[in-house]
Amino acid sequence: MTRRTKLSSLGAVISTWLALMPSTILAALYPGLSNLNHTCALVKPELSCSKNAVFGKTDSCCSETYGGLVLSTQFWSTYTGLEIPSTSAEPQLLPPQSWTIHGLWPDYCNGSYPEYCDLSRQYDPSPSSKGIPPYPATSPDIGTFLLPFGRLDLLQYMNTYWVSSLGQSNADFWAHEFSKHGTCMSTFEKECYGPLYRPHEEVVEYFEANIKFFQQLPTYDWLAEANILPSNSTAGKKGGGYYSFSKIQRALKKGFGATPYIGCSGEKYNETIEGKGSKDDGRVVLSEVWYYYHVYGASQNGKGKPVDADAQGGRVTNCVLERGKVRYPERTKGSERTT
Ligand SMILES: *[C@@H]1O[C@H](CO)[C@@H](O)[C@H](O)[C@H]1NC(C)=O
Ligand SMILES: *[C@@H]1O[C@H](CO)[C@@H](O)[C@H](O)[C@H]1NC(C)=O
Ligand SMILES: *[C@@H]1O[C@H](CO)[C@@H](O)[C@H](O)[C@H]1NC(C)=O
Ligand SMILES: *[C@@H]1O[C@H](CO)[C@@H](O)[C@H](O)[C@H]1NC(C)=O
Repeated sequence: MTRRTKLSSLGAVISTWLALMPSTILAALYPGLSNLNHTCALVKPELSCSKNAVFGKTDSCCSETYGGLVLSTQFWSTYTGLEIPSTSAEPQLLPPQSWTIHGLWPDYCNGSYPEYCDLSRQYDPSPSSKGIPPYPATSPDIGTFLLPFGRLDLLQYMNTYWVSSLGQSNADFWAHEFSKHGTCMSTFEKECYGPLYRPHEEVVEYFEANIKFFQQLPTYDWLAEANILPSNSTAGKKGGGYYSFSKIQRALKKGFGATPYIGCSGEKYNETIEGKGSKDDGRVVLSEVWYYYHVYGASQNGKGKPVDADAQGGRVTNCVLERGKVRYPERTKGSERTT
């Protein structure tokens, strides 16, 4: 109720914004979608982005028909920014020997992507797109949405494996992921849950779907199997935490079954002292992996067919390609859970 009032006071901002945005945004993805008859057991699950996975040809609540190229994305971070207990924040720690969840993102089948598709489900306190009204800071955190469903186990898992590394609370991070990306997936539309829809039911399922994909993608183990382990040693080729991009890519491709996008952060190689004069401007610190899928039926099922990151002309990395120059850093002391 409070939120409704607050949002309507932003009416002027929103209407200016409305005039500038494509018409798909601001309501349901498919206006007029009925909340009746979405029994997915009665519908053939379609592979997203295939010719029958289209609104009108199949039930968009049972097969992903909007953002059919689904990315399950992960981070490698060396600290969270909120490790230290303070009066205002719960300390956040990273899970040992595991990457962490970033989000589940629906791209259009052509590789471009929609975002913030339903502002009636905007829970992100600091939206990353211009013109999106922030969810008021006084509103309950999105973690509390799980409580009426008794899903404390899910909340605990999320606090362990879905950790913000931006010095932001985990709940604000999850809210960002749901609002920016989850609202653009057809199978998480409120209408899909029928006339007895309970508030935030689809938020809980979006979170759970993130975990279903994450659990099939043990990035840390796939790298470890190829002897790629985090280290801050500078001992060079043998023993140091420096690896060739091609070796990292090979290990993850072998595990996943398709080429993922591998993201690096930090400096550009040719802006480092060592790389001076090189044409290679890839970044030098390993930090993200994006696994692309076409999904079978609803994303809630967590079943997908791996797709190469460059299948739609996208890049496969922004990392340095020069041999042995990608750094896989060790976590900061005290940033990992010990229990
Ligand atoms: C739901 O299915 C029943 C049985 O096929 C049908 O009579 C009814 O019109 C359908 N309702 C909607 C909204 O599609
Ligand atoms: C990609 O597909 C979306 C949705 O069908 C469409 O709106 C957009 O214009 C397409 N983009 C390109 C670059 O073709
Ligand atoms: C780094 O490499 C890029 C791409 O080859 C080039 O455009 C840029 O000028 C280089 N920068 C430096 C500082 O050498
Ligand atoms: C390893 O290096 C990263 C930065 O590159 C740093 O954040 C981290 O604290 C270091 N870890 C240890 C154990 O020294």
